[in-house]
Order: sequence, then structure tokens, then C-alpha cells
Amino acid sequence: MIPHKLSSTIPQILNILNDGRIHTGIDIGNDLGISRTAVWKVIKRLQKYNIDIQSQHKGYYLKEPLILLDQRKIEPFLADKRISLEIFETLESTSHYLKSIMPLENQTVCLSEYQSMGRGRLGRRWLSPFGHNIYCSLSSIFKKDIVEMSGLSLVVAVLTANALESFNPRLKVGLKWPNDLYMNNQKLGGILIELMGEAYGNCQAIIGIGLNVNMKDIKLAGLDQPWISLEHITQEKLDRNFIVGYILRTIFEGLDVFQHKGLEAFLPEWEKYDLLRNQKVSLNTGAGKVFGIARGVDSQGLLLVEDSTGSIQKFSYGDASLFKD
Ligand code: BTN
Repeated sequence: MIPHKLSSTIPQILNILNDGRIHTGIDIGNDLGISRTAVWKVIKRLQKYNIDIQSQHKGYYLKEPLILLDQRKIEPFLADKRISLEIFETLESTSHYLKSIMPLENQTVCLSEYQSMGRGRLGRRWLSPFGHNIYCSLSSIFKKDIVEMSGLSLVVAVLTANALESFNPRLKVGLKWPNDLYMNNQKLGGILIELMGEAYGNCQAIIGIGLNVNMKDIKLAGLDQPWISLEHITQEKLDRNFIVGYILRTIFEGLDVFQHKGLEAFLPEWEKYDLLRNQKVSLNTGAGKVFGIARGVDSQGLLLVEDSTGSIQKFSYGDASLFKD
């Protein structure tokens, strides 16, 4: 699939339709200085993404307002002007895109309104409907050896939870090791970290963040676990630009701390968010299931599980869930 940058015409047309009235193609075209056919082509594209724009004989009508990602709203959150930001209409996957344009010298952020092949942890798919959620990847280089990077996924999860709470104190997130974001026992988002060793002991990380935002009334085939979106909590549509802004600002500041102080600086906060701590868990390690009581994480972010004999085992990998007997 060819990466498609988000053109300004799409948000402009949506801005007109967001008033909930019926607009003719000619009126929209006149407002924007484009032809009626150009308007029609954009409407068709949006309809292909399942955006509910009705074409009536009187004109076009959009049922639910839709605010798209906007560079101008996000950039003020990026204090470091060397961070470059790219926004796409559609991509296979934001993380895949960043990898395809490596080597990246500066920190780069990539957002997309839609991912045709969004990827989750452990080889899963990440369903990515157009315009409702956040699909964000960022790249960063660390002056660390790859073995010191094991805590990064926990750090990014803590920082994302912090960002959401400072955006709106009602957004109380819990974290499931290593980096799932939960609210009310349902999955809100997830993080996918990919690490590449570089020369001179440096390490490049591609950090992918998927977050359900305005996804209250959507039916998605293929979603196999209970999920929740921020809209379920706030009961209103949110402007994703500000949420992305809070997340990026918090993450870039936090990555500096991680660079200098490592995971240790974040462990007290991890403990605060940790949903598994002192709970009965089952951990699918790929090589079989392990049952026990989760006892937090060690200094490298490995999950500690106490088995029935009272001894503690450490895990670097796996899919954990609460175990009810
Ligand atoms: C998980 O399995 O919980 C991790 C999900 C990570 C999804 C994000 S969306 C942005 C980035 N691009 C991808 O293809 N995946 C990550």
C-alpha cells in the first residue's frame, strides 16, 4: 500500500459538514475553491472508510461530527522543534512506516487516521478504523545497550497513563504488564516496542501506541476481547489532537529521564498503576501457561510470579491475565 499523506481538503470538507446541516457539493466546492467533482471524490473516499456521510438529493449530510488530526494543533506540544511530525490519511502501520524510512537521525513522530495492517503485540492485529482513535509511532535513539532497554515498554505505559490523567483527571488508567492500558477491566490501548541495536552501543526504538478514543458506537468485526474507549468514560467526542499532544509531550520528557536514570525512576509509578500486583494470574509464555501470584516487577521490568511453593519466577515475555478459580 502506498502511504497517503492527509491532504488539507479532507479536514476542510469535514469542517463544513460538522455543523450537522445538509450542504451541496457546489456550495462546499465554492467555499473551498474546488470543483464539485473534487468534493464528490473526497466524500467517496470517506465513505469507503465507513464514515457515515449520506448523499441525498439536497446534498451531503454527516451524522456525527468528525475532527481529524491537525498538525497545527499538535505541534505546540512539541517543545523540541527538531522533532518531526508526519500525519497520514492511511498507512499499513505507523511503526512499519517509520522502520521503512530508517535511519532516522532526529526523533520522528508518525500518525495515521487509518492503518490497513495495524500490528499488536505477539503477532496480533490491531484494528484501526478511520478517524476515531490514535495510531501513533515515534522513534528515538538511546545511548544505551539493547540489554538496558527492557524497561522501556513499562516506562512508555506509565507515561501514557500519566498523560491521560493530566489531560483529564477522570481518566484513571490501570496497566497490565508489560504495557496494556486498561479502564474498568477492558482494554483501552496498547504499546508495541521494537528495538534495533545501532553502532557504538546505541539503540533505536520504534514506539507504537494505539489508543481507543472516539469509538463508542462502532461495531468492529474481529475484536476478540472486551474493549473500552475514552468516549465511554467522558460521554463526549474528544479532539484527538490534544490527547496526542499531551501524550507526546509527556513521553518525550519522560524518555529523557529514562535515558539518564533508567526504569528505576518509574518503578514507584508502575506500582501505582499495576493491575496484576498481588493478584492470581495466568501467564501464557508461548511455551505453556504458568499460574501464580503476581508480585510486581524487578529492576529490569521482568514480571515476578510466585508459584505454589512460594518461590519467585521471573518472566520477560508473555501474555498475562487475571486468573479466577
Ligand atoms: C498491543 O497489542 O496491545 C499493542 C498495540 C499497538 C498498536 C499500535 S497502533 C500504532 C502502532 N502501529 C501499529 O501497527 N501498531 C502500533
